[in-house]
Amino acid sequence: MSNIVYLNGQFMPAAQATIPVLDRGFLFGDGVYEVLPVYSGRPFALAQHLARLQRSLDAIDIANPLSAGQWDEILNQLVTQNCAGQDAAIYLQITRGVMQKRDHVYPHDMQPTLLVMCNAVQFPAQSRDTPGIRVITQEDTRWRDCYIKSLNLLPNVLLKQYAVEHDADETILIRDGLAIEGAASNLFIVKDDVIRTPPQQHNMLGGITREVILDLCQRHKVIAREIEITEDELHDADEIWMTSSTREISPVTVLNQHKVGNGEVGPKWHQVIDLYQAFKQDVMRGGNDAM
Ligand code: PDD
Repeated sequence: MSNIVYLNGQFMPAAQATIPVLDRGFLFGDGVYEVLPVYSGRPFALAQHLARLQRSLDAIDIANPLSAGQWDEILNQLVTQNCAGQDAAIYLQITRGVMQKRDHVYPHDMQPTLLVMCNAVQFPAQSRDTPGIRVITQEDTRWRDCYIKSLNLLPNVLLKQYAVEHDADETILIRDGLAIEGAASNLFIVKDDVIRTPPQQHNMLGGITREVILDLCQRHKVIAREIEITEDELHDADEIWMTSSTREISPVTVLNQHKVGNGEVGPKWHQVIDLYQAFKQDVMRGGNDAM
């Protein structure tokens, strides 16, 4: 399979794509990124991902190097070259660019570095007999501005690694007694038939999968509330789900080595995953990624 990437205006084999050592992304993690699912060759929820990219860029004072139309063109070309018609994930990142010498302070006229990659992936099957995942809790050690999809992922990396080394798939992050999100996913719980997810604040990433789920619930009159979740409420939940572009909606059956609810994947998950899969099909058939 070809592995073509887009770097600063050119498509080229990944093995030939190189970045100068004085790039601020390399030295400071000074940049932002996005991950988009691609279903049957079509980028999913592109408008929402581009809107979040713009929010991240605005927050760190980098001008968007491309228009929405140019993004659309480049992402589609890259998908065609790497994985036409397949399921895939697009990764894109923009750094502030390359300096003359290492310096925390940046001039305002830098030329951003733009990298886009696309690789075929297999999304979780999520059928009726999906086994749940195992999660673990840890104190949230990240900075306060987690709404920015920043390249600085060291705390997320360590927190996710912690899960994997403790027989779990994901870590739920606790800050000031509240469950915020996962190391690389958003959090939903179900209690007494009501779906809950923490409200969008600066301390968490506004996930696009989360947005899609909340919109679907609203459209289909499934009760879902954006409301804080305490650590105690997390432990008392009937269902827990972790959501992201690459994992979609993962039901959790074990939290800190204890069963969630009755230890089975719950009925609300079944209801919402059916809505999500139907919506995906709809988008792919209709070629329309607007909500
Ligand atoms: N991460 N919260 C965090 C901290 C994340 O890193 C992610 C996704 C999400 C879910 O966002 P979305 O639904 O838009 O994918 C929430 C991506 C997949 C990653 O870093 O690879």
